[in-house]
Amino acid sequence: MPRKIILDCDPGHDDAMAILLAHGNPEIELVAITTVAGNQTLDKTSLNARRVATIAGIDNVPVAAGCDRPLTRELKTAGYIHGESGLDGPSFGEPTVPLDPRHAVEMIIELLMQSSGDITLVPTGPLTNIAMAVRKDPRIVEKVQEIILMGGAYTRGNTTPAAEFNIYVDPEAAAIVFMAGWPLTMVGLDLTHQALATPAVLQRISGLGTPVSRVAVQLMEFFRETYRRNSGFDSPPVHDPCAVARVIDPTVMHCVDAFVAVETRGEFSSGMTVTDFSGRLGPTNAQVATKLDVDRFWDLMVDAIERIGAPARAS
Ligand code: BDR
Ligand code: CA
Repeated sequence: MPRKIILDCDPGHDDAMAILLAHGNPEIELVAITTVAGNQTLDKTSLNARRVATIAGIDNVPVAAGCDRPLTRELKTAGYIHGESGLDGPSFGEPTVPLDPRHAVEMIIELLMQSSGDITLVPTGPLTNIAMAVRKDPRIVEKVQEIILMGGAYTRGNTTPAAEFNIYVDPEAAAIVFMAGWPLTMVGLDLTHQALATPAVLQRISGLGTPVSRVAVQLMEFFRETYRRNSGFDSPPVHDPCAVARVIDPTVMHCVDAFVAVETRGEFSSGMTVTDFSGRLGPTNAQVATKLDVDRFWDLMVDAIERIGAPARAS
């Protein structure tokens, strides 16, 4: 039985890879793609979700736009990593996948409340939509199967020394999500920095020789350059599909129980996910990802792109 997921994202190069993995892997049933402001403004991340859905041939999954700014703060975007469009690199034709008229927050609540408790939330952007949904209808906490998010870290930041981008953009939302009381897995930078799109990986993807694989390689090449320039990485960490991979196969990564608190007030530490593995600050509220089975992860990614096969109409 495939696992149903709602992918709440801000595409974003690695969000695009998460969409491809979710669509191409047979163990996942993608029930909705929802978008949020983060890597770029909401209009751009929504357009990008529709672009990726179009090139992957995803024509039966609603794409809905959500919150256009964090709960209380000004939006900060990441054009320095993802470019002006949020998905610079390939050139995309006009997307044929439409935007669903519903607000993403409404859609998330509706899908969860109508479900039999078998939907997993996979957020790969700032947590604004998810926090809004839980505030609007707290019954979703009991309805969700689990939440597996890309965000945070216990050893580092990437936007400030303390904070990872998704949490940094909307710490108030993240605090709500981490404290909501649902089964939650934090797939943070400690894990995702092991998922590097090395030249060998790109060669495997490019070797598939399909239109979608070409777009994936173009995306990763752009990502490589901005990561090299901004963060000194030789190969870029492909964060977001790691969260999807955890849904497909929990053994793809090792996780450890912890109490995670989101710092919202620190002058230098706002957006930090303070992670306590020893129960001093509070009871366990998260499984925290520590170690990735790198080969297995890339096998899943390559296999998904291969299965998608022919679509892609990037020009
Ligand atoms: C996260 O921030 C975004 O730039 C990426 O898409 C990823 O979700 C990594 O910190
Ligand atoms: Ca993202």
